[in-house]
This record gives sequence, C-alpha cells and structure tokens, in this order.
Amino acid sequence: MMHRNRVRCALLAAVFCAVLSAPGLSAAPTQASLDLMPLPANIVLGTGWLALKPEFSFAFTGYKDPRLERAVRRAADRIAARTGIPLAIAAAADPSQAFLQIDCGAAGLPVQTFEEDESYVLTIDASRAVLRAPNPLGILRGLETLQQLLALGPDGVHFPEVDIKDAPRFRWRGLLIDVCRHWIPAEVIKRNLDAMAAVKLNVLHWHLSEDQGFRVESKKYPRLHGMGSDGLYYTQEEIRAIIDYARDRGIRVIPEFDMPGHSTAWFVGYPELASAPGPYEIERHYGVFKPTMDPTREETFKFLDGFIGEMARLFPDPLFHIGGDEVEGHQWEESPSIKAFKTAHGMKTNEDLQAYFNKRIQVILKKNGKRMVGWDEILHEDLPRDTVVQSWRGQESLARAAKQGFAGILSNGYYIDLMYSAAAHYAVDPLEKEAASLSEAEKALILGGEACMWAELINPETVDSRIWPRMAAIAERFWSPQETKDVADMYRRLEIMNSRLDWTGATHNLSYPKMLERLAGKEGAIEAVKLLADFVEPLRGYSRHDSREYSQTTPLNRMADAARPESFAVRAFAGMVDGMLSDAPAFSRNRREIRHRLMTWKANHESIKALAANSALLAEVLPLSERLAALADAGLTALQSLESGQPLPNGWLEEKAALFQALEKAPYELELMVVEPIRKIAEAAQKR
Ligand code: ACM
Repeated sequence: MMHRNRVRCALLAAVFCAVLSAPGLSAAPTQASLDLMPLPANIVLGTGWLALKPEFSFAFTGYKDPRLERAVRRAADRIAARTGIPLAIAAAADPSQAFLQIDCGAAGLPVQTFEEDESYVLTIDASRAVLRAPNPLGILRGLETLQQLLALGPDGVHFPEVDIKDAPRFRWRGLLIDVCRHWIPAEVIKRNLDAMAAVKLNVLHWHLSEDQGFRVESKKYPRLHGMGSDGLYYTQEEIRAIIDYARDRGIRVIPEFDMPGHSTAWFVGYPELASAPGPYEIERHYGVFKPTMDPTREETFKFLDGFIGEMARLFPDPLFHIGGDEVEGHQWEESPSIKAFKTAHGMKTNEDLQAYFNKRIQVILKKNGKRMVGWDEILHEDLPRDTVVQSWRGQESLARAAKQGFAGILSNGYYIDLMYSAAAHYAVDPLEKEAASLSEAEKALILGGEACMWAELINPETVDSRIWPRMAAIAERFWSPQETKDVADMYRRLEIMNSRLDWTGATHNLSYPKMLERLAGKEGAIEAVKLLADFVEPLRGYSRHDSREYSQTTPLNRMADAARPESFAVRAFAGMVDGMLSDAPAFSRNRREIRHRLMTWKANHESIKALAANSALLAEVLPLSERLAALADAGLTALQSLESGQPLPNGWLEEKAALFQALEKAPYELELMVVEPIRKIAEAAQKR
C-alpha cells in the first residue's frame, strides 16, 4: 500500500431463559442489558441487582499499592460523575462489609511486560462486588468492566448480579498515534489514554519522528527538536508524565523513531546524517520522500548510539520501534560513496543495505537493554529472533515472519485514518487468512494487533472522532474470544460505548457540534447543517489524498473533517428502510417516520442555501445538500406510490437513474450515505 498518499462469551441462552424477575424489583438483567465492550470471555448472569450506595466503601483484602488505590478512586469518581450521585469514597472500616472488595494477588512488574497476567474475576451479588486478579493489571481491567456494568433502573442505579471470568485473547492490543504529520499535544494523548483504558487496550505506540516533525526533546542533540519541530515537541518532563499516566492505566508506551527513511526532520538540524548534502527543511507535504540516513558512515551510528542511549533511558519499555518502512532509495542510488560501499561489502540491493543498518541498530538497542520492533520491511534472515515485526502489509507477511521465528503484530486492516467502518475492521483477525494455517508454536508468536491513527488528515480537534468509537470494536477483536463475531450486536454495544466514552474525556462527540457551528458560519445555527452532516461520511481509503494536495498547513475545518467516519444516523435510517420493506406491520410502523425524514431533508436545502450565502465552508457542500433534497423528493414520490398502491409513471425510475448513481467527482470529499436506502424504496415502488 502507498503509505498515506496516497463469546466464547458464555452467554448461554439457558442462563437467560432461567432468569426470572423478582417481584417489586426492576426487571432482572438480561443479555441485552449487558452492554459490555470488549465482551468478556465468560459471563454467568444472576437474577438480581447490587444497588449503588452513596457510601462507596472499598477494601483491599490482598496486595495493594498507590497505583491500585488511584485506580479505585478514579473508577468511583467516574461512577459518581456518570450518575450524578456524590459518593463518599472511603476505605471500609470492616473490609468484609465493603461495597467493593479488591483482592489482588501480588505486585506488578516495575515496567509492564506482555508476560504479566491481565485476567480477573468479577463477582457481583446483592450485597457487594468482589474483584480478584493475580496482579494489578487484572484489577485495572476489572474496574473498567465494573464501570460498564453500571445501569440505571426504575429503582435507582445498580449493577447486575454477575460472575465474570475474563482474560485477553491477545497480549498486545495497541493504538499507534502519529504526532508528527500534525502535532498532538500532551493533554490530547492523556484523554485518549483514558479512553484506551476503558476498552482494555494496553499499548500506546507513539510515532514520534517523521519527515514532517521531530517531536521529542533531546538534551544530547537539541537541534533535533529545536530545528525539526516548529517548537511543537514534548519536553522530557512531559514524556515522563505521560508514561506515568499510561502506567497508572495499565498501558505501555512504546516509542517509534522512524529510520533510516521517513526522517527528513532529523536532517534540518543534523544534515550530516543524510545520504545527500543539505540543507534540509521540515517536509510539509505527505508521501514517501528521498531524504534517508547514510548507513555507510560510522558517524551516523555514533550519533544514533548517543541518541538511542538517551531515549532508552527516557522510555522504560523494553520494546523500541525503529520504523524501517518505505526507504525511498534514490539518495542511496545516487551517491557514489554509498554505491562503492555496497559493492565493497557485496550488497546487491538497498534491502541488503537496510538490513546492514538494522543489524547495527539492533546491537545499539541490545546494549541499551531494548528489543527491536519495526515494520515489515525490516524482516531479514540475519536479524536476531527477538525482533518483533509490525505488519502493515497483512497476515501473509505476518505468517512469513512467524515461520522464520519472529514475533509479530498485525496492523494491516486496522488503519483507522482510512475511514472504513467498524464492521470492516472488526472482520480483520490477526490469526486468520494466511496466519490460520500456522502451527500452534508459530501462532503463539502472533502477539496481537495495533490500530494506526496516521495524522495527515487529523489535528487535535478531530483526532478523537477518528479514533472513537471505531477503536472500541477493534479493541474487542483484540481482547474477546475469536468467536465474538455478531456484527449487529457489536454495533448495538458500540453505540452505547460511543456515549460512555464521553466520560473518559475523549472529545469525539464534543467536537462535532462545534465544528458544525463553524460550518454554519453562525452561532447557534447548527440544526440544518447537522441534518446534512449526519448523513454524509468522509471518502474512504486514500481518496481524500487523491482529491487535492494536502499539506501540514491545509485547514481541516471542512464538512469532510467534521463528518463522522461512520454515522449511527445513517445506519439507523438504512435499518428503518430495510424494516419498512421487509413486511407489512413494519411498513406501517416505519413509513411515517421515513416520510417525515424525507420531507425534512427536502425542506432543509433552503436553510442550507441561506446559511451558505455567508459561509464559504458550507457553500462547498451545496451540491450535496441539493442532491439530498432531490433524493428525498424522489423517495417521497416512491413512498407515496407504495402507500397508495398507485404505480409510478412509466420510465420514472430510469429518469431518476443519475440520482442513484455514484458520483464520479466529489470535490467536497464526502459521500452521501442515503442513496442506497432511497434507491431501495424507489425500486420497491417500481416493482409494484
Ligand atoms: C506504513 O504504513 N508505511 C507503516
């Protein structure tokens, strides 16, 4: 792919059939009331409820430490915030009477690893909740499940009686955030760490250097951030604070410094590292660029030895990502000295030279106690087998690595910058396709997966809405049993998670009305704009990149930036239409609502036109609004025909054909998502 240019959920039916509601209490919990995401491995549901008490007493009956105490307080604080009930959060005088008992087996490791057990058992009965885990990570995961179980019933706020035994399917459940193409400040990282913890993710892969920016303070080589970042970088103090913040939430922070390609920003301050003479400037455009480190000069490795040594001390995680993707090659091919070096060392290809570079880097990493991670391109027979491969190319490449004895993770299929649906990502499994035929020992090398939030078309205002809520569906793929595949139920729970994630501080919902107000060009006037924006989605894949020449300074304030990658309103409308067309009772139930919706769209264009007269941002999408109105008009005609039994005029559908065709050009970089459902109404009417 062109980079950026480009249960076993033991929800046994029998359990639910056996559930009887106790008289006088709210209805007993059912499967539908367990809105958990990711779904736990095993759930046995009881018949009653544990009521939330204002005196939220807790007790540690096993190991405890400040991290666990902070986690309990955080969970209780969020429960208080969500319910609006001020909780008197305090350690219980008599631990056996505590509302929440925490029984942790032992201390966690000083630096989190994948060997740490994340399992937990959560038992809730009518008198208390008991959370047990072998170590703190399991307690952290269980506290998130407890919060997700919180429900509002007619008698107040409560938790269902339940017995959950849970453990992750994969050890590595990550999210990459690119902070280079666009700068993402520390507070944005922190709120996303809270959201990640809510869905039990355990790795933040921090993409920290690129052609477009070098984002970490280096005390040893201050021109890296000093000249390569426009002043937009994390101080070492900020980095340490984020690592601590992540650790509190059971999340590892794995830094990536992309080398030897994707490295223009390094050369602004240190042009001598490059394979061709400078000067260099921070790259403002996107793609794969020529500047590449020179692996033939000893000074390059001396520099990298100093740099990696400094970063190895700053980032405690034993894994260190060196990138290694998309080495462009021209600078190596055009340099006489590099060509001579290759010949002298019997290297035929640039891949051979990159393998030499990687081996040298691996020695530096090992000296610093680090294990190397890199993208597919680093895979080479000569590398030590503790190297980890991150596959952006797919299961085939992951399987090939595993067969050679390399551990790996899957990212292909989880590029959330490409705006695919949650269902599309949910369908991707690190252990399927080519990986399915691996031996058990080889399968054990597949550690999990990571979603990638590349940042060409995002900024601090939009990043959350490009991660959430779709990331929650991917998190379920990484955590829950492989058989967890009910897409309709995933969407039902995802919609609930979408709202719950607001409580983590993620701004995916909060930013939407603000951006719509900007489009409207008028304070308080978002209704008409929302009617349109709710039913469009940004172009998928690399189509937006193909539509115009994006750069770091292109404003991301258009409807394509405000619109959700996957709109719940679109799904709801499509479902309503499918329902209406499926049987007579549903027809009479849904048609009024559908007619109302179509009439609203038809009338909405006048409001959009009026607003667009004063908003260039909205004027851009006038053709979309006009098309929506025309589709709504056609839909009303078809619906009228269905309701009255009066056939449509001869040739009507043919006349409307253009309306239902995909547009060849969409300069506004959006797709109108109601074409398909309205076409279905029209075709049903035509068939009469
Ligand atoms: C990549 O997408 N080049 C890692």
